[in-house]
This record gives sequence, C-alpha cells and structure tokens, in this order.
Amino acid sequence: MPEITVTDRDGGVHRVNAREGASLMETLRELDYGVAAICGGMCSCATCHVYIAEPWLDGLPPMQGDEREILQELESFRPRGSRLSCQVPVVAGLAGLEVEIAPEE
Ligand code: FES
Repeated sequence: MPEITVTDRDGGVHRVNAREGASLMETLRELDYGVAAICGGMCSCATCHVYIAEPWLDGLPPMQGDEREILQELESFRPRGSRLSCQVPVVAGLAGLEVEIAPEE
C-alpha cells in the first residue's frame, strides 16, 4: 500500500496508507478529515475534490471531459492541481503522493 501525505482542511498533515487498485477517493472517504464522495465515484458530485501536489500531476491519467467540466464550475478550482479523487487510481508509483483536501462548497 503506497503511503501518501494528506493535508486536511484545517492544515493538519497526516501520513496514510492508500488502498492500491482503488481510486484515491476510496482511501480519503474513510478518513474523518477526508472527502464526502456523495456520488460514490460517479464523477458527478465534486465532493471528492482535492489538490494534487505538482510533482505527481503529470504522472496521473489525464482528465476526461466530464471531470474537467465539473471542476471548472467550482470556486475552489485550481487549473494546476485540482482533481476529482474518484478519478485518480492508486498505483504503486504514487507512493509519497501529497494531496490536500479542497474546501467544501
Ligand atoms: S465521488 Fe462524486 S465526483 Fe468523485
């Protein structure tokens, strides 16, 4: 299980073992300070919005159109960094990933 670093909405930093083979959202929604993921990973609610730290951004699968459309409607959208964590698969290469939980909207 790749270890990742999660920054919560209060700025707290946590080291977490991410569940390999599932989406990043699956790990984050199990944390008290994680994401709500209301739609369960259907790419329709944006409550799993996170910011991925720069070094890992380009190694992730590219955004699909619906993910980009949903993100761009958010006030908290960042052109570099914003992703829906339900669309980010956890693979061994993500070890060390730094992710920040985006503000609730
Ligand atoms: S869990 Fe709803 S968009 Fe990701």
